[in-house]
Amino acid sequence: MKSALLFCAAVAALWAQTGQPPLPRIVQKDGRYALLVDGAPYLILGAQVNNSSAWPAMLPKVWPAVEYLQANTVEIPVYWEQFEPDPGRFDYSLVDTLLTQAREHHVRLVLLWFGTWKNGSSHYMPLWMKRDPARYPRVTGANGRLVDSPSPHAAATLDADKHAFAALMRHLKSSDPRRTVIMVQVENEAGAYGSVRDYSPDAQKAFAGPVPAKLQAALHKSGGATGNWSEVFGADADEFFHAWSVAHFVGEVAAAGKAEYALPLYTNAALRDPLQPGPPSTYESGGPTDNVLPIWKAAAPALDLLAPDIYQSDPVRYLKALDLYSRPDNPVLVPETGNLPAGARFFFSALGHGAIGYAPFGIDYTGFSNAPLGAPRLNEESLAPFALNYKLIGPMMREIARLNFEGKLQTAVEEKEDHSQTLQFGPWTAVVSYGVPQFGPGNHPKGNPEPVGRALVAQLSDNQFLTAGFFCRVDFRVSDAASAERREFLRVEEGAYRDGVFKPIRIWNGDQTDWGLNFTSAPQALRVTLGVY
Ligand code: DGJ
Repeated sequence: MKSALLFCAAVAALWAQTGQPPLPRIVQKDGRYALLVDGAPYLILGAQVNNSSAWPAMLPKVWPAVEYLQANTVEIPVYWEQFEPDPGRFDYSLVDTLLTQAREHHVRLVLLWFGTWKNGSSHYMPLWMKRDPARYPRVTGANGRLVDSPSPHAAATLDADKHAFAALMRHLKSSDPRRTVIMVQVENEAGAYGSVRDYSPDAQKAFAGPVPAKLQAALHKSGGATGNWSEVFGADADEFFHAWSVAHFVGEVAAAGKAEYALPLYTNAALRDPLQPGPPSTYESGGPTDNVLPIWKAAAPALDLLAPDIYQSDPVRYLKALDLYSRPDNPVLVPETGNLPAGARFFFSALGHGAIGYAPFGIDYTGFSNAPLGAPRLNEESLAPFALNYKLIGPMMREIARLNFEGKLQTAVEEKEDHSQTLQFGPWTAVVSYGVPQFGPGNHPKGNPEPVGRALVAQLSDNQFLTAGFFCRVDFRVSDAASAERREFLRVEEGAYRDGVFKPIRIWNGDQTDWGLNFTSAPQALRVTLGVY
């Protein structure tokens, strides 16, 4: 606590001196991460807009959805085709509009650089590039046919992308002293569908050459620096070669931008099936899928993290995807997730994995739906479960981010067959059950009609917890069998954090605590002090 206060004082002093809030950055401690914004842990309660919604004419349909959701951060594209209409001539008007309007709406931005790759293709390249496919080529498939994906071996494409991305970051540096933009996504779902790798003459030459020593060292591969891709990686060679090539390209673009303005940078992944991935021909090859994360880490050190776009609706797969991307070398960020109402509970799963941010996709009222990935119609009714999450967590997002960074927060999320779950905090066990009445014993929880329950519990001190949730009961027991039934609620306070301090509005007692702490659809946060009688 003392060091946190000293740190805040140092940040405040620097801020006063420079007249600028410090740069957002990601910090790591004991394998856990925090995104610092204005010098303190920040949780991205995000909303990602539809792909074609970043145009000024569309923004009036964006803000009402963002406001209804109570998001604190909007993830929004910057289109290369708009940004560089002629070679070397940059149009900053759209970015400037986004900055102005985001400030008016009191939200931060994560800009998505739709550059060389967008969902494996190059559809956002400027027209002058599209008209010169010989200079800015696509991937050549094994059969010699062109594939609709940019080649990562094209030097001219890389040069152009680096130049444009550096211009974007340079512009942000000069036009965003308030740090409205807190992070930038470099490319969008890079990789290729339709060919596991590029078979163009340049690619073939590199494939026949030695695996870069840097990669071999990072993967602790024997085989010597002279081994070519097939010799070192056998059956995985094609996919790993494409992953290295794409990652190297994206890493170079990221580094060029970071040299101008050192904001946190990341790129996102089109996932392969987390449980039964199948061969690379069945998913987007070369992107940061779970099996090639170490390759991406070695090839693209300028990226602060690799982020999963999670559109799974099956909880086992959703949790597995989170597991695969929460690694000691990778902070968890869910930059896109489906907006189907039933999926709202997975926000709590992301929190339980220490996520620094989370954003449902397609949040605007432009009338587009990406069903079946998202809701068939996006409106207040379909957004309500997501809005509930943010209404609860918004007022305490700094505390939640800090508690997560300190490793004190755990969550529970209802699954169809799993009506009761436990979270362990030293001698205390938090029991979360679903489908019990508010009044009366809950010995046989039957689950909610739909699995929408979710809870978080964070340890504030030895015997004090913060808990909150929806559609569930949270209770505590002492792990020691002799006193298991003798837990006592010394005090249960409902309240909210203001300026980092928990301000109670009432004490829960009587019916409200006799059967455990029951959460409904009301956003309620409780500070619970426990004892044993
Ligand atoms: C993932 C992409 O990253 C998004 O831009 C969008 O195309 C969704 N898929 C589908 O709506």
